[in-house]
Amino acid sequence: MGLYLPILYGTVRTERKSIRVAEFVLERLSHRPDVETRLFDPRDLPFGNLTHREWEWKDAPGPVGAFVAEMARADGFVVVTPEYNRGYPGTLKNLFDHLYDEWGRKPFGLIGAGGMYGGVRAIEALRVVVGGIGGIPIPSEIAVIQVGTNFAEGGPTSDREGWERRLDQFLGELEWYARALQNARRADGGSTP
Ligand SMILES: Cc1cc2nc3c(=O)[nH]c(=O)nc-3n(C[C@H](O)[C@H](O)[C@H](O)COP(=O)(O)O)c2cc1C
Repeated sequence: MGLYLPILYGTVRTERKSIRVAEFVLERLSHRPDVETRLFDPRDLPFGNLTHREWEWKDAPGPVGAFVAEMARADGFVVVTPEYNRGYPGTLKNLFDHLYDEWGRKPFGLIGAGGMYGGVRAIEALRVVVGGIGGIPIPSEIAVIQVGTNFAEGGPTSDREGWERRLDQFLGELEWYARALQNARRADGGSTP
């Protein structure tokens, strides 16, 4: 049985550099057999500050329904986010807050991109939030230090093999959890807590 592991990207900043990491993850994830993926960019989604949750939204714009359907059929997620002021962007929090059931009992692989600390504080903050929406943050994580110099369009600026190895290992772990939880959800008919 195949897995659907979409990538959720965290920022709409005009000069954003972390998108390079998200695109590199997309490339590596696309190579994995039996895995379907897609990059969701908040620039293409109509989620601003939360005024009502997705199911309370009357006459929701078309992309909302399509996004919810994609999240519902997902088996797990990779989150790629920059670190802003020791946290993650509000854009990402708003995206999470608009939905709920779609995240439940699914694994989240967290990737941070930042300056000196590589986004580790954004990752730590996200671990709490992912728990809050009923998801399961996997133990492994990837922190990209000085993303503006270590990544260019097309991927890492040096040691590409090393980055590919680390990322593939991380994605392999996410896949393990996604498969285990997919089996468990199927076994009990896909109930939510
Ligand atoms: C508002 C703002 C706050 C930031 N705060 C941090 C921070 O706390 N820690 C860090 O490592 N980098 C920080 N950075 C640097 C970003 O991590 C850096 O811009 C990096 O390129 C990733 O973000 P980007 O995808 O928006 O470019 C900050 C950047 C911005 C725009």
